[in-house]
Amino acid sequence: MTRQKFFAGNWKLWGTQAEAKALIAALATGIQGSKHRILVAPPYTALAAVKQAVKGGPILVGAQDCSALESGARTGEISVGMLKELGVDVIILGHSERRQFHNETDKLVNDKLKLALKHGFEVIYCNGETLAEREAGKASEVVIRQTKEALAGLSEADLGRLTIAYEPVWAIGTGKTATPKDANDIHQVIRKTIAELYTKKAADAIIIQYGGSVKPDNVKELMAMSDIDGALVGGASLKADSFLAICTFDK
Ligand code: PGA
Repeated sequence: MTRQKFFAGNWKLWGTQAEAKALIAALATGIQGSKHRILVAPPYTALAAVKQAVKGGPILVGAQDCSALESGARTGEISVGMLKELGVDVIILGHSERRQFHNETDKLVNDKLKLALKHGFEVIYCNGETLAEREAGKASEVVIRQTKEALAGLSEADLGRLTIAYEPVWAIGTGKTATPKDANDIHQVIRKTIAELYTKKAADAIIIQYGGSVKPDNVKELMAMSDIDGALVGGASLKADSFLAICTFDK
């Protein structure tokens, strides 16, 4: 089955409005005619500027998180309604930095996922094991558990708006990448879990990105694997030349 590759740049805590506009301008010409899906996820404060800058082009705009509540007393949080007003297409949920530094649990991620889907967003849902879990031989067990908890209550139709990003925590921002084979093995575990929870058809169709130190010099071998359908890119998405090299790896 051919699945369209999907490359997403997660800018994390980078990007003033001016920086964001300059980066989009540099990306827009470089990705013309690309057959892959491409998304950038700037910080909330640059979303409006980025949405304006990508207007009329193929680049999708993502938020890096959202509140689990539609409204209420949650100082500092941003709601799905606010993101909708800005024209955000996709929300990234369950990133390991949200889990690690903001104590997000699988249950909370599941609540956010259901809310984002209910409001018509696409979601990139992230999971992945820590180094200690990998060294204990528990990588598969952890991603199966995370996937099941995140997807609880979701219908097969919901999966049409869901991308999964497998991001081993030990590979994020560390320069260490999982070997293509190790990554692909976990992607297959995730796909098998989807087949068990839903159908083989749903499992075959779902897009599973790899994330964790993806760079221009390792993207080709990762994308050559049977079950890797794109990448969620942090550091290398902050410069036009490196993100473009990743998004056009097959040119
Ligand atoms: P990295 O980050 O590419 O800098 O490792 C990936 C991510 O956190 O999504």
